[in-house]
Amino acid sequence: MRIAARNEHTSLTKAGSPDRFGYEWSEYSEMRPEYEEQFRRWTAHLRPEDWQGRSFLDVGCGMGRNSYWPLSYGASRGVAIDVDQRSLAAARRTLAQFPNAQVLAASAYDIPFVGAFDIVFSIGVIHHLEQPRRAVAEMVRAARPGGRVLIWVYGRENNGWIVTFVDPLRKVLFARLPVAFVHHLSLYPAIVLWCALRFGLRRVGYFRLLGQFSFRHLRSIVFDQLLPRIAHYWPREAVAEMMREAGFADIRLAWINEVSWSAIGTKPPSRCDQQAEETEGTLAK
Ligand SMILES: C[S@@+](CC[C@H](N)C(=O)[O-])C[C@H]1O[C@@H](n2cnc3c(N)ncnc32)[C@H](O)[C@@H]1O
Repeated sequence: MRIAARNEHTSLTKAGSPDRFGYEWSEYSEMRPEYEEQFRRWTAHLRPEDWQGRSFLDVGCGMGRNSYWPLSYGASRGVAIDVDQRSLAAARRTLAQFPNAQVLAASAYDIPFVGAFDIVFSIGVIHHLEQPRRAVAEMVRAARPGGRVLIWVYGRENNGWIVTFVDPLRKVLFARLPVAFVHHLSLYPAIVLWCALRFGLRRVGYFRLLGQFSFRHLRSIVFDQLLPRIAHYWPREAVAEMMREAGFADIRLAWINEVSWSAIGTKPPSRCDQQAEETEGTLAK
């Protein structure tokens, strides 16, 4: 029974492609100045001063770039979790200068904290998971009552061309190829995109942002699009529904770069998971 549960957990975790992202984060582990602008956009609901003196949990931290900025804005404590060892090693290097940062191996499906953080966030992770709602529920549990939970996910709006042309190819081809080979292949669409951006591709805000990036950064973004086993592109209402289902108060959504959604909600102050768990435990005895 236990073995079956463990196998289910392993295949659930594997579906989120941590091994493939681990390749990406060991290959592209340098901190780039433009990551701050990206972070500010992805977390549009929060200003740098909102992190001051606050504790946070970064779920699916990759190489740790999104924990770096709140720590540099004065967060009191930051915990970054991921399930891939290469990502965790890169995150430890990125965050080495912050004594109040902790990098831990833990899954979004099984977060080892209850009611512990002022802010729990996950950037670019939830849309790659087989059971996104389960991960959001875990994030809610990890936040303190009255704390805030933020997710940034791909939008369906303005991504029709990816959903129609790139996504089917990703599913049948790229997600099944060895990740190092996908990395090699990413060079060619990256060259095409780089040229298109130079020749005036500016249709949506995201392309205007991409036009400012180095070729290496652009290629890492193309690679990131091709490598995962799962990628959901959610319309606004689907993201709003997921947040409502998680039981948040004061839900806000922001359209980011005209291609994605940043959603934030407050865990109701009355919701105390620790007490609820203890009560459940007592009742079960
Ligand atoms: C697209 S990357 C985003 C990384 C980081 N949040 C960022 O924006 O730079 C997705 C990350 O989610 C991690 N991941 C996938 N499944 C996970 C799970 N079940 N629990 C925790 N992290 C997971 C991967 O290992 C990877 O580092």
